[in-house]
Amino acid sequence: MSETTNPGFTPRIFSGIQPSGGLTLGNYLGALKRFAALQGEQSETIYCVVDMHAITVWQDPEALRMRTREAAAAFMASGVDPAQSVLFNQSQVTAHAELAWLFNTVARVGWMYRMTQFKDKAGKNSENASLGLLAYPALMAADILAYQATAVPVGEDQKQHLELTRDIATKFNHDYGVNHFPITEPLIEGAATRVMSLRDGSKKMSKSDPSDASRINLTDNADAIAQKIRKARTDADPLPGTVEGLRDRPEARNLINIFAALADESPDQVLSRFEGQGFGAFKPALAEVAVAKLSPITAKMAEFMDDPAEIDRILGTGAERAAAIATPILDRTKDIMGLLRSRP
Ligand code: TYM
Repeated sequence: MSETTNPGFTPRIFSGIQPSGGLTLGNYLGALKRFAALQGEQSETIYCVVDMHAITVWQDPEALRMRTREAAAAFMASGVDPAQSVLFNQSQVTAHAELAWLFNTVARVGWMYRMTQFKDKAGKNSENASLGLLAYPALMAADILAYQATAVPVGEDQKQHLELTRDIATKFNHDYGVNHFPITEPLIEGAATRVMSLRDGSKKMSKSDPSDASRINLTDNADAIAQKIRKARTDADPLPGTVEGLRDRPEARNLINIFAALADESPDQVLSRFEGQGFGAFKPALAEVAVAKLSPITAKMAEFMDDPAEIDRILGTGAERAAAIATPILDRTKDIMGLLRSRP
């Protein structure tokens, strides 16, 4: 993995989540669940609530502060230990914004226009999108490369941004004749790297979908979870014995993948148990495993949220630790680029 791709770089894992709305089962299975699992392996783990990404679209200031805390609570409730990992919010470490500016001079405008997330979020009226929304991937590259991170666990939807991060690192190293930034490996693994909407199997489950029934929120109670699963769109056929049988059944495939990821099984293992059965039997079993896995997380999140001052303290300490890693890397970047540094 990264050790062989990036010899000479300390193995380091970085990932981030936007506090732009309540977090969903997609965020949990695609990202949060794996963040905790990666702790304590050989790599250092650095996890960030990316509040400066969130403001690329309008956020109510007080709501943003609360959601930043809530995202931090979700990290910890999912098992991220702020003693083992560095946990902080992006805006408290100025190296991210500074390095993003430097990368704005490396990245090309055409690269940004090609990003599908920009096209989706800017919509038809892209002239009216914030400049930050267009430049967003340069900030994301800065998040990662400010720590010279060698690996980034994310869901499938972030793959294109990670390719752009690799392009920026490659161009920087080439333009300045250095080996300063690693070529970061995406870690897109598990049965649920792309959790789909419960109402439409062709759309990603997203916190910004207008229909609350399309997603399971990490703050949903057991009744809401069971009800959303009961109402999830499916088809009338019985379940097949292997995943090949799900090829043209996106809704069914999504529910099987969710079950597999929650139960730490493979989709084929799940199907071998439910082969020949209909959704009348499968959905209650899925609701049971979802409630069993998510309820403790929801409860822990609420506990953390009872003490916002403690969350703020944890994020502040994390930001100091993060800055201690990022500042020397940023300084070296400035030196490479010829920016004069003479302050004591
Ligand atoms: P964001 O905040 O949209 O999502 C956070 C993480 O959750 C994953 N995810 C999903 N995985 C599976 N199925 C889904 N339906 C689903 N929805 C979301 C995302 O892939 C992501 O891993 N640009 C990033 C945040 C970011 C970042 C970074 C990530 C900023 N800087 C540096 C990694 C490294 C974003 O908008 O994620």
